[in-house]
Amino acid sequence: MSKVKKAFFCQNCGTQSPKWVGKCPSCNQWNTFVEEIIEKESATESWQITQTQPTKSKARKLDDISSEEQSRMNTQSGELNRVLGGGLVPGSVILLGGEPGIGKSTLLLQLALQMKNWRILYVSGEESEQQIKMRAERLNINSNDCFFLTETNIQRIFQQIKEVQPKVVILDSIQTLESEHIESAAGSVSQIRECAGEFQKFAKQTHTPVFLIGHITKDGSLAGPKVLEHMVDTVLHFEGERNYGYRILRTMKNRFGSTSELGIFEMSGNGLREVNNPSEILLSQREENLSGIAIAASLEGMRPMLIEIQALVSSAVYGTPQRSTTGFDSRRLNMLLAVLEKRSGFRLSMKDVFLNIAGGIKVDDPAIDLAVVCAILSSNEDVLIDPKTCFAAEVGLSGEIRSVNHIEQRISEAEKLGFHKIIVSKYNSRNLSPRSGIEVIAVSKIEEVFRYIFS
Ligand code: TYD
Ligand code: MG
Repeated sequence: MSKVKKAFFCQNCGTQSPKWVGKCPSCNQWNTFVEEIIEKESATESWQITQTQPTKSKARKLDDISSEEQSRMNTQSGELNRVLGGGLVPGSVILLGGEPGIGKSTLLLQLALQMKNWRILYVSGEESEQQIKMRAERLNINSNDCFFLTETNIQRIFQQIKEVQPKVVILDSIQTLESEHIESAAGSVSQIRECAGEFQKFAKQTHTPVFLIGHITKDGSLAGPKVLEHMVDTVLHFEGERNYGYRILRTMKNRFGSTSELGIFEMSGNGLREVNNPSEILLSQREENLSGIAIAASLEGMRPMLIEIQALVSSAVYGTPQRSTTGFDSRRLNMLLAVLEKRSGFRLSMKDVFLNIAGGIKVDDPAIDLAVVCAILSSNEDVLIDPKTCFAAEVGLSGEIRSVNHIEQRISEAEKLGFHKIIVSKYNSRNLSPRSGIEVIAVSKIEEVFRYIFS
């Protein structure tokens, strides 16, 4: 019989301490230590019990290590491949986080059913087999080499893995898993660390990619110890506004690719649909031209997309004018309004200003500044902006038009979508490759833009 052992764990970063401390010495958070019972682990690890021959370790030279193990598996989803850096790397552990109900289980179930070339094991600790079946019926994809298991005990999961021999393992979710070697409840720091560690070892030794679904806390970070994020190879975040159908899959960490990639999906009645051309959803379909609308050539990660900025400026009814934004930083809006007031003499201080980014996405690209400013003035003056003109520039505090990064990509995207003119900073217009489809207008001061658009 092994001896019962107790230890204190920081619920924030996972630091272990033999006695209770008020302040975590590692992450400096107060009152985060909680006692957890850990039974002394038996000599062998769960994964090794089920494995007949543990691989021997041997130091090797870089040249002797073959890189063919790194050849990627196609997930059958262009957006997911892109976010993973070109496909699924064998032996990688991917953590997918996101708010409840955002579509994490749907995304991975869809992946499991789509990857028909490989045997997949989908383990759910949250839903019953019937619930999974109902969801799969909704998705309407047939696959006969996909196995489902409802289990939370990782020793039993490993037994099933040994039997089924899957090529990809999906675990929904890491917070529901528990190891027999640890006494504390599922979801506690020591359980999460133990289970993630076991699957990490399993993935590396068998070259099987493992997806872990992770819950997130109220403040938006992944629940569980920070070490979880260090242990895995890739951390993905699935996010979106609940009231809109659009979901964005972002890479927060990727050992096998860039972190500036993002995938866009739309939640429909039968699963997630890939959105290959994001501009299609972000430009609202309008019949007539209205004032208060300007189009910005923005860049999310490395993906250019044209987004529509809508502004409404009206006389304030109550004493204090309201400023309200959706999808845009309200402090930045206040700054732009101050610049407009000071540099171009528009009296906006007694006006209500509402700003909205179409499609319900959040943008923090400074290159949309100029479009924001123009949308506000367009609404204030009730003058239309030509719907075939778009903007890509940052506005500085003295009203100067500043250059933005990746201008060529932005211009190309605008050209591709049939825009006739793009307004950019003078400093961006040097060394641009010549274009036939779109006219590039270079400006250096905000007044020039107004004269150009509103005259
Ligand atoms: P789910 O994948 O259960 O979210 P998570 O695992 O992140 O908690 O997402 C479920 C939501 O998606 C639920 O509100 C219903 C909706 N949904 C659709 O709109 N269409 C579909 O085809 C499916 C399967 C779910
Ligand atoms: Mg779920």
